[in-house]
Amino acid sequence: MLIEIPEVLTKQQVQEMRQKLDAADWVDGRVTAGYQAQQVKRNQQMPEDHPLSRQLGAVVLAGLARSAVFRSAALPLRVFPPMFNRYAGGDQFGMHVDTSIRQLTSTGQRIRTDLSATLFLTDPEDYDGGELIVQDTYGQHSVKLPAGHMVLYPSTSLHAVTPVMRGARVSSFFWIQSMVRDDAQRTLLFDLDNAIQRLAKDHPEHPSVVQTTSVYHNLLRQWAEL
Ligand code: NI
Repeated sequence: MLIEIPEVLTKQQVQEMRQKLDAADWVDGRVTAGYQAQQVKRNQQMPEDHPLSRQLGAVVLAGLARSAVFRSAALPLRVFPPMFNRYAGGDQFGMHVDTSIRQLTSTGQRIRTDLSATLFLTDPEDYDGGELIVQDTYGQHSVKLPAGHMVLYPSTSLHAVTPVMRGARVSSFFWIQSMVRDDAQRTLLFDLDNAIQRLAKDHPEHPSVVQTTSVYHNLLRQWAEL
């Protein structure tokens, strides 16, 4: 399932990040790509261990911590430190799948990539192209969100970024290991959680609130790996 997470960052936060990122030194994006992805990847990145990546990454993580939609949709166990990329002057990333297991350079800890995230840091009217294309069993989805908004999609999906022909597309990107590995199970829990939230809001006294909440937690207890 492809899920939009609105307003992970405020416009003010995006603006401050962009000022710092626009003044920074970028490197060739192929440094973090596996062999297949290297052949099709043309963009720039902030080095993973650059102090600015860490500083701005912490702001992204704080934004995620505030987002109830993110918690419900991702059921995060571990979040890979957010990184930053930039596409301009025809840069693009052809169809590829993200590496399944990533290792943190800092601690050596390994993360299974269940979900991939792109947090947009440029408004759509400021660049042409740069759509994120995600393929799933229902076909192709094209995603281009307002600055500060994020998309989550299963890391099992083939995906691409179309060439940026005007302006620059700056984003944060990272991966999440979820407590629930299976996308179909995670989607069921997200749908159920949303239904419970609506029911609890409209009919707080209804006995089905406690019953469905119990079903939610008992499913999560069965499916979660910690
Ligand atoms: Ni990718």
